[in-house]
Amino acid sequence: MKLVIGCDHAAFGLKETIKRHLVEQGHEVEDMGAFSEASVDYPDIGRQVASAVSQGRFGRGILLCGTGLGMSMVANRFPHVRAALCNDLFSAGMSRRHNDANILVMGGRVIGDVLAKEIVKTWMETAFEGGRHQRRLDQFDGAPDDKR
Ligand code: RB5
Repeated sequence: MKLVIGCDHAAFGLKETIKRHLVEQGHEVEDMGAFSEASVDYPDIGRQVASAVSQGRFGRGILLCGTGLGMSMVANRFPHVRAALCNDLFSAGMSRRHNDANILVMGGRVIGDVLAKEIVKTWMETAFEGGRHQRRLDQFDGAPDDKR
C-alpha cells in the first residue's frame, strides 16, 4: 500500500521507526517531514498530509505529534479525512472496523515504539465492516456542511 506520513519534532523518532517498519513490510511511504527534532509547527505538516489524503493522492496516512491531539484536530478539518487518534490497540481496530479511518494519529510522548508498531499493524490489517457503519459515515463524510 502507498501511504503518506508526517510528524512534528515531538514525534520525529517515532516517525522514523514507523516508516522503517512499514517499508520493511513492503509498503511505499511518502515522508512529508519533519526531518529532524528541530521545532516545527504541527499544523504545517498535518495540513500537507491531510490534504494529500483528502485529494485522494494517498489512500491512507499516518500523523504523529506529542499527544496526537493537535494533528487529529488539523486533519479532521479536511473533507473525506477520517483521522483517528489511537494510542491503544482496541481503538486502532475499531477506527477501521466502524469508522473506516484513513489517517492514523498517535502521540509520540504518550506511547512507546513497540506499542506504536502494534497499533500500526492492527490498523493496516483491519478491514472496514461497511453496512450500518457506511450509512453513518454517509451522514457526515462529504455532506454539504463539510465544505470549507
Ligand atoms: C509540541 O510541543 C506539541 O504541542 C505537539 O507535538 C502536540 O502534542 C500538539 O498537539
